Amino acid sequence: MEDQAKRLRELMNKERKINNEIIVGKKAKTLAIASGKGGVGKTNYAINLGISLQNLGSSVVVIDGDIGLSNIEILTGISTKYTIVDLILKDKSIYDIIEEGPKGVKIVSGGFGHYDLSLINDKNLNKLLDEIEKLENFVDFIIFDIGAGISNMVLNFILAADEAILITTPDPTSLMDVYALIKALTIYGYMGKLNIVTNIVENKMDAINVFEKLNKVANNFLNIELEFLGYLERTNLVSKAVRNQQPFVLLSPKANISKRMNIMALKLLDIPTIEKKEKLSFTQKLKSLLFERGR
Ligand SMILES: Nc1ncnc2c1ncn2[C@@H]1O[C@H](COP(=O)(O)OP(=O)(O)OP(=O)(O)O)[C@@H](O)[C@H]1O
Ligand SMILES: [Mg+2]
Repeated sequence: MEDQAKRLRELMNKERKINNEIIVGKKAKTLAIASGKGGVGKTNYAINLGISLQNLGSSVVVIDGDIGLSNIEILTGISTKYTIVDLILKDKSIYDIIEEGPKGVKIVSGGFGHYDLSLINDKNLNKLLDEIEKLENFVDFIIFDIGAGISNMVLNFILAADEAILITTPDPTSLMDVYALIKALTIYGYMGKLNIVTNIVENKMDAINVFEKLNKVANNFLNIELEFLGYLERTNLVSKAVRNQQPFVLLSPKANISKRMNIMALKLLDIPTIEKKEKLSFTQKLKSLLFERGR
């Protein structure tokens, strides 16, 4: 743990240069993985995407934002000594709670157990964001696996992220709920890309039909265009991987579902450019959403 903290600090202090210009802005691309309905595959998606991105040469942190109901360590088979709850309650730093997961993906657990929701007050949230901010300058991707639904907290996390990845299944209730989430984001003035992933579909045709149905409603009623990031078919491999505590892209790298995950990771890769130095950090954006404009 000590060594890891030291290494992370060293990495952070490195200057980033592109074409010999020192880049001072944030580096990380922040992705918010969300859904209207729960249980549609967000956490599996988040960790497998993280590994695919890492395999493509990026450095990735996956944060399980489900405080008290964290699943990420179960899916990766790692045990985390400390979690976000320790950061908030016990004064641990982000370096103390970050763990090395499969393929070098960094994992932050949301912790287990029953916690009073007043834990997530302004002071604690600010502290958490200050700690996350430290990561923004030295990793390529921060993937937030955030809770399902349309609470203000969920909306603010998506609004602050660079890109949203919204997961839905073909189930009409899942589609209805993701539409409600998209509508809420539109009302709040979301300007980023709304990537849609259709999960647990029967085949490509099914996936495209589901996306088109959703996109048509979004076009007609909200006047917005959704982006089809990709799809994952229904396969027993996912539950097998969960039981084995090994993400499916590692358990069966050649399986179709793993290939599709790699294609989505490739689409999300973004070669850094000089213009990026002007970008506002995720934590700065989220702080202004939470504390300046109110929730
Ligand atoms: N492509 C798939 N094919 C078959 N089963 C899947 C697929 N994706 C996910 N599942 C199943 O769905 C279940 C829920 O997945 P997961 O825990 O990732 O969902 P979640 O959206 O994170 O749930 P929660 O909202 O409770 O956090 C898993 O147990 C997994 O077996
Ligand atoms: Mg989950």
